Amino acid sequence: MDLNGKVALITGGGQGIGSVIAQRFIADGARVCITGRNQAKLDKMAGTFPPGSVTTCAGDVSKSEDAVRMVEATVSFGGKIDVLVNNAGIDEGGSVVKVDPELWRKMMETNLTGPFLLMKAAIPHMIRNGGGSIINIASIGGLRCLTGMPAYASSKAGLIMLTQQVALDYGPYKVRSNVVCPGGVRTAMTEHSLGRLKGTLNTDLEGVFKVISSNLPLRRFAAPEEITGICSYLASDDSSFMTGSVLLVDGGAAVVDVAGASLASAGVKWGV
Ligand SMILES: NC(=O)c1ccc[n+]([C@@H]2O[C@H](COP(=O)([O-])OP(=O)(O)OC[C@H]3O[C@@H](n4cnc5c(N)ncnc54)[C@H](O)[C@@H]3O)[C@@H](O)[C@H]2O)c1
Repeated sequence: MDLNGKVALITGGGQGIGSVIAQRFIADGARVCITGRNQAKLDKMAGTFPPGSVTTCAGDVSKSEDAVRMVEATVSFGGKIDVLVNNAGIDEGGSVVKVDPELWRKMMETNLTGPFLLMKAAIPHMIRNGGGSIINIASIGGLRCLTGMPAYASSKAGLIMLTQQVALDYGPYKVRSNVVCPGGVRTAMTEHSLGRLKGTLNTDLEGVFKVISSNLPLRRFAAPEEITGICSYLASDDSSFMTGSVLLVDGGAAVVDVAGASLASAGVKWGV
């Protein structure tokens, strides 16, 4: 993708999917501002990029003043903001009876209010600059239920609707807004949350990932790099007629046939 001349802000860029989106954007010609909660981690990440291609801004996406600071840091670094990637997020489990109300609020504030605050701060700059592209990282969990994860799934479902609402309201100002819904991606987030199943499944971490992906069409989790191409495309002018789109990068999770999966677990085999 050609991102030459583009200036992008990526939240949660210190690790995981956000860090490889930053790598990809820079490789495709953009200059980026990466943000996260830990300045030392951001500095370390920034040190791996060519000088002049990156700046950093530490802060919490759920705080209004931090969101404004992140956008201002991007504009003072690059003179404008063409692309906003709302990638920062947290995932904690707990069914409705079990989930602590404070944790529920934290999930909503990080995964839904955070993107709202960043968009609120960035859109006026984009409009002044003649347009922009917003890329929100939701999840397959915003479209399909995830066992025991109502807070995460609800926050991501809200983010999908918020993305489309922004597409509707700001399309006339050439601000595009699209949402990417990854399926399972192998990062610190999933290693932490799924690692807890090692004891229950009586296996190691590799075994847990194997069991969980055994009914997916591609039979595996994604590498974080496999989410970056779609983001670079949405950031580029090649996607100039796309807004309000919900893009699944899920290894086929959305097409899993529940009855077929049950039969497969019982040993029934079809196909070649
Ligand atoms: N890994 C997956 O399987 C998967 C699947 C679907 C969607 N996603 C989404 O992709 C995004 C990135 O996930 P990841 O797997 O790379 O996770 P990760 O935990 O490796 O990275 C998340 C990043 O967000 C940052 N962050 C969290 N809360 C923040 C806050 N309040 N303010 C600022 N930064 C904050 C963290 O510091 C971290 O850098 C998340 O939104 C996640 O929900 C991940």
